[in-house]
Amino acid sequence: MKRRKVLLGGLGFASLLTTVACGGGQSANNQGADSKTLTMLTSPDYPPYGFYETSGGGRKIVGFDIDIANYIAKELGYQLRVQESDFNGLIPALQANRADFVMAGMTPTDERKKNVDFSNIYFQAQNTIVALKGSNLVKAENLAGKRVGVQLGSIQEGDLKKIAEKVQGIQVKTLNRVPEIIQEIKAKRIDAAIIEDTVVRGFTQANPDLEYNVIPSEGPSGSAIAFPKGSQRVAQFNQVLDKMKASGELDRLAKQWFSASVPASPAASPSPTK
Ligand code: ARG
Repeated sequence: MKRRKVLLGGLGFASLLTTVACGGGQSANNQGADSKTLTMLTSPDYPPYGFYETSGGGRKIVGFDIDIANYIAKELGYQLRVQESDFNGLIPALQANRADFVMAGMTPTDERKKNVDFSNIYFQAQNTIVALKGSNLVKAENLAGKRVGVQLGSIQEGDLKKIAEKVQGIQVKTLNRVPEIIQEIKAKRIDAAIIEDTVVRGFTQANPDLEYNVIPSEGPSGSAIAFPKGSQRVAQFNQVLDKMKASGELDRLAKQWFSASVPASPAASPSPTK
C-alpha cells in the first residue's frame, strides 16, 4: 500500500498560526463574487480530513474533506477554492458569510445548529484518550487529577468539561491546533488529550511513544458539512453525498485516506507557548 508522507511541521506550520486564507485573498464574500466558484473553509490541522501536505516541495491543503468537496463542487458545476481558519473561527466565518461551506471533520451539534445548517453525516468518529505509552488512561475516571488537552471550540472541549463535572481535579487545557496538543503530550506539559480516533490513529502511528483508548461519547459524533443558516446548498450537497454513498465513491475515499495516511511526527512544529 502506498504510504503518504505528510509533514505537519516547520515553517509551514508556523505560518499557519497567523492564519489567513490561502489563495491570497481577504476572505471572500462570495455573494456575487464568482458565481462559478464555491469557497470552502477548513481548519487544516486535522489529518487525514484536512492538512498541509508539504512533501514534494509544495504546500497544499489536502485530505478526505478536500476530496469530497472537490467531487461535490465538480458535480454541481463549480470550481473549488479552499481557505483556512482556526477551528474556532469556522462557524463565525460562516455566520459572516465568508464562505459557502465548511468541512473540517465537524460534528453537527444542537448548539452549532443554532448558528449554521448541516448536511447529513458523511463519516463517523469516536472520542479517545491519547497519552504517552504506558499511561493506561482507559476511561474518563482515569483523568482525575490530570492535565488534559482539547482543541478550542471542538466538541471534545465540551465533552471534557462534562467529564470534569463528574471526575475530580481535571485541569482543562484548550489549544488551537491538534498537532500542538500532540506536541504538549510528548513534552509532558499535559498528561492526556481527547481526540477523535480517526485522527489520533495517524498521530500514534507516527509517534510510537503515544497510545490511545476509545471512550464513550458524551454527545453527538461524526462529521457533516456546515453551511450558513438558510443556505440552499444543503439539499444539493446532500444529493451528491447520497450519490457518493451509493456509488461507493465515499467508501473509496475513506479507504484511501483512513488506511493509508500517516502523518509524520509533528515534533518539528514550534512549541506552543500557551
Ligand atoms: N469533530 C470535532 C468537532 O466537531 C472535532 C473537529 C476538529 N476539526 C479540525 N479541523 N480540527 O468539534
